[in-house]
Parts: sequence; C-alpha cells; structure tokens
Amino acid sequence: MGSQYLLTCVCFWLPLVSFTISVASQKSTAGPGNVIEGNVFINGTTSIGRIDDDFVCATLDWWPPEKCDYGTCSWGRDSLLNLDLNNLKFLNAIKAFSPLKIRLGGTLQDKVIYERAGNGQPCSPFVKNNSEFLGFSQGCLPMSRWDELSVFFKKAGAVVVFGLNELSGKTTDSQGNELSGNGIGARVSADQYASDINSLQNVVQNIYAGFKVKPQIVAPGGFFDATWFTDFIKKTPKSLQVVSHHIYNLGPGVDDHLIEKILDPSSLDSTSQTFSSLQSILKNSGTQAVAWVGEAGGAYNSGHNLVTNAFVFSIWTNSGWHHLLIPKHTVDKHWLVETMAYSTLPPLLQILITTGITLLLINLDGNTTVQVRVSTENNSGGTKNSSMHEIQIPRTRFATMHRVRGSKRVNDTRKEYHLTAKDGDLHSQTILLNGKILNIDSSGLIPPLIPIDVNQLDPIIVVPFSIVFAQIPYIKFSACN
Ligand SMILES: *[C@@H]1O[C@H](CO)[C@@H](O)[C@H](O)[C@H]1NC(C)=O
Ligand SMILES: *[C@@H]1O[C@H](CO)[C@@H](O)[C@H](O)[C@H]1NC(C)=O
Ligand SMILES: *[C@@H]1O[C@H](CO)[C@@H](O)[C@H](O)[C@H]1NC(C)=O
Ligand SMILES: *[C@@H]1O[C@H](CO)[C@@H](O)[C@H](O)[C@H]1NC(C)=O
Ligand SMILES: *[C@@H]1O[C@H](CO)[C@@H](O)[C@H](O)[C@H]1NC(C)=O
Ligand SMILES: *[C@@H]1O[C@H](CO)[C@@H](O)[C@H](O)[C@H]1NC(C)=O
Repeated sequence: MGSQYLLTCVCFWLPLVSFTISVASQKSTAGPGNVIEGNVFINGTTSIGRIDDDFVCATLDWWPPEKCDYGTCSWGRDSLLNLDLNNLKFLNAIKAFSPLKIRLGGTLQDKVIYERAGNGQPCSPFVKNNSEFLGFSQGCLPMSRWDELSVFFKKAGAVVVFGLNELSGKTTDSQGNELSGNGIGARVSADQYASDINSLQNVVQNIYAGFKVKPQIVAPGGFFDATWFTDFIKKTPKSLQVVSHHIYNLGPGVDDHLIEKILDPSSLDSTSQTFSSLQSILKNSGTQAVAWVGEAGGAYNSGHNLVTNAFVFSIWTNSGWHHLLIPKHTVDKHWLVETMAYSTLPPLLQILITTGITLLLINLDGNTTVQVRVSTENNSGGTKNSSMHEIQIPRTRFATMHRVRGSKRVNDTRKEYHLTAKDGDLHSQTILLNGKILNIDSSGLIPPLIPIDVNQLDPIIVVPFSIVFAQIPYIKFSACN
C-alpha cells in the first residue's frame, strides 16, 4: 500500500511562478475508497521563480534505430536524421505547444559532422561499432536533410536549439553534450569549455554582426556539478546566455523500481537541491545567464517501456513544477504524438493564461481520495506550520471550501482539469481528462481540453493517482502580476 501523498501546489503565472507548498500526509489506516481532507495554504507574498513564455521544450535526438539498451531498441525511426516529417500528428503536436522549443541534440551530437559543399568528404550515417567511442561511428547531417528540417520547423512554428559538436577536433578523453563534471564517456574541463564558449561567442558576433536578433548560446548541457559549473560560469561572464543541465534522477531505465521512485515524494524532492544550488551559483556569480533544464529524460539509457512513455511518467514530469523543473523530453517513439497524454501540461497552460492562479495537485496514493480546501489566510487550519500539515483523521463528509478573501460572489467558479490513467493503470498510455479519453483523431487533430466548472465552495477532489489543475480566477496575488 502506498503511504504518502504529495500535493504540490503551484501558483504559476507567466512570467512569474509564485509560492509553492506541499501538504504531505502519512496515512495511518486506509483501504480502497478512503477519503481524507487536506488544506492548502497559499502564501502569495513573494514569487519563487519565473519562467519564459516559450518555456515548453522537447528534444529530437540523433540515435539511429540500432541504438539498443538492455536488449531493447526503442528509438526506431525517431531520429532527426530519419523521422518522417510528413507525419501530420507530429506537426500538429508541435503546433499545439506553440511556441515549442525543439532542441536538436543528444549523446551522439559530439560525433556529428555536417555536410559542407565541396569539401569532398562523404556524408555517411552513424554505423554501429562497439569498438568506437559511444558505440557508433561518426555520422553526418546531409545538407538536404538540414533544409527539410528547417522548412518543417518553420511550418510548425518551433524555436530551434541546435546542439553543436563540442568534441570535434578533440581527443575523446578531453568534452558538447553531457561533458560537464564527470561527463558520460568523455569530459572536458571547465577551463577548456569556457574558452570554447568564448570563441563561439566571437564567431556568433562576427556572423550576426548587423542582425538585431542574434542566437543565444546555451551550455554546457551536462550533469550538474557545483565545482565545474561555478568555474565555467565564472569564466564566461559575457558569452553565455543560458546555463543548461540535464536531469536523470531516476537512474537507469532498466530499473524495475522506477514507479516506486516516481511515487516517492522524497525521490522527487531530491532534484530540488540541484535547482537551489545552481540558482545560488548564478546569483553569486553576477552573470546575466539564466538556467534551463536542457533535457529531463528521468531514466537514462532510453527510459523504460510502459513507464517513461506511460501515464505514470506524467506524474514525474508534472511534479517537476514543484521545483520549477521545465518539462523536457526526448521524443521517444513519437512521444509527443502517440501519447500526448503526458504532455498535457503545456497545452493546459496555454488555455489557462487568463486571470488568477492555477494549482497543480498530484495524488501519489492509489487508494485515497483527498478533498482539498484552499486558503490564502494563515489562520484557517489553526496551525502555524502549514507547509507540512499532518492529516490523520480520515473523514468521509465533504468539507466546505473557505470563502477566499477578495471573492465577493458566492457562486464564483473555478475550472478543473482532472487527469487519470485509463482503468487506473499507471502503465496505461491512454489518459482521461475529466473522465473522457483524450484521443488524437485519424486526421491527427489534437482534442480540445475541456474543463469542468466547480463552485468555489466545493473542495477540489483529487482521486487516487491523479493530476489536477485547478484554475482559480478569484484568487489573485500581486506577486503573480
Ligand atoms: C509568507 O512568505 C513570506 C516570505 O517568504 C514570509 O515572510 C511569511 O512569513 C510567510 N507567511 C506565512 C503566513 O507563512
Ligand atoms: C570499428 O571501429 C574500429 C575502431 O575505430 C575500426 O578499426 C573498425 O574498422 C571499425 N569496424 C567497422 C566494421 O567499421
Ligand atoms: C490499496 O490498498 C490495498 C489494501 O491495503 C492494497 O492491497 C493495494 O495495493 C492498494 N492499491 C494501491 C493502488 O495502492
Ligand atoms: C499569520 O499568522 C500570524 C500569527 O497568527 C500573524 O502574526 C501573521 O500576520 C499572519 N500572516 C498573514 C499573512 O496572515
Ligand atoms: C514544519 O514542519 C516540518 C515537519 O514537521 C519541519 O521540518 C519544518 O521545519 C517546519 N517548518 C516551520 C517553519 O516550522
Ligand atoms: C452566478 O454567477 C453568474 C455569472 O458567473 C451570474 O450571472 C449569476 O447571476 C450568479 N448567480 C447568483 C445567484 O449570484
């Protein structure tokens, strides 16, 4: 039996993200159908962070079909070298996130060469070869494919982040993708990396001299290592616009206990250390650079079938909001398309850009329904410590929602989006919105996301293993303006 729920409440408004609190609660005795009450107090006095309005992003990787892990070859023809760009669902999915940032990159980006006119070199694809670094030969991006990709991204309205090869011309024991800190397979010193970034900035300034809008430089796209990042940021004060890092806190995809980790609040919390550490490095260095999560695959080595591409993974993704984690995924098996389920957050955000606040509530328990009351005043529960509020008495009667200060009309309503897995099965690749299956129809159209209207006096009912977005127009904070 699961014994914890994590209710994460995020007041986010573009561009501000305000105070977050969680209500964690130990269950004493409970069985299926257990109902308890929870209080969420929102402290709206300060914001805890901000996000760009084009914060939604995804990665298109280079892996060829021959990339296999633990006997599973999960990539198919989803690489940016071979993906079907005429797939209407894919195009519509990108448009639905508009503007979606698409990063073109991944492990093999440091083994990519680019076809150039008249240099006489053959432009051949990656070939599997276990004696080569990263298990593949060098691969080449044909100019014609680059043109097709450019046309496609323009049509889809995507913002492109292109991953450069940072190992080119270096021996492999020296540093591009995941080369910071200890790197994966290869590493580059912070010194060397900073010097390369400074050179790159000069190249960009020369090429784009006279252009109003110049490309931003995003680096290092590796795992966070405080010493390495501090050093690197210190040495790139003028040339770096974005500091990026990758998140794979669930460990290897082969792990059979991924779901337990996803449902464990402490495992979800562990990432927050990285965020605050990076935040303080940025603050202390005085750099203008901002932090991005460049890739958040969760479980490395291509994830795990029916976990990282199933409903349960949306819990991992969305709980990232708890720490302002930017949802970012590898397009695995047309992840964006076949299972837009997990990615419901971004389209919802588009819808939710109106007024007030949005709460995100995630129930990590499979047996308990939580009735949540929201308060913006700290005297409601009679407890001073409202960030960790123990609730031990299961009740079956509905509590009424407190009238929220500033709300004059009794019949104010909020909009709720309840996401659940089909048949309550966490492995399901079918998601329900307010009880109805979300389906992409045969013409590739993304379904409309229709909320339910709920009276403000009713509690928010968060059923087992569900994700709820409650858009509350009648709660307003100046910190969110
Ligand atoms: C709300 O947050 C502010 C700033 O963090 C803090 O000073 C204040 O004590 C908080 N209020 C309550 C009731 O927790
Ligand atoms: C595999 O890589 C090794 C080392 O670079 C090379 O000697 C060998 O010829 C390659 N094998 C094939 C089949 O290309
Ligand atoms: C619900 O509780 C029952 C009985 O304690 C337990 O066997 C079952 O695994 C629980 N279900 C979930 C989804 O946690
Ligand atoms: C919260 O409660 C404390 C003590 O009860 C009080 O001093 C404080 O002003 C309250 N803060 C807010 C934001 O209501
Ligand atoms: C609130 O309670 C938690 C757990 O009991 C504790 O760790 C935390 O320090 C408390 N916070 C405050 C502000 O008292
Ligand atoms: C309830 O709200 C609607 C608008 O949201 C308003 O038209 C209606 O008169 C209200 N009803 C009552 C009883 O206040």
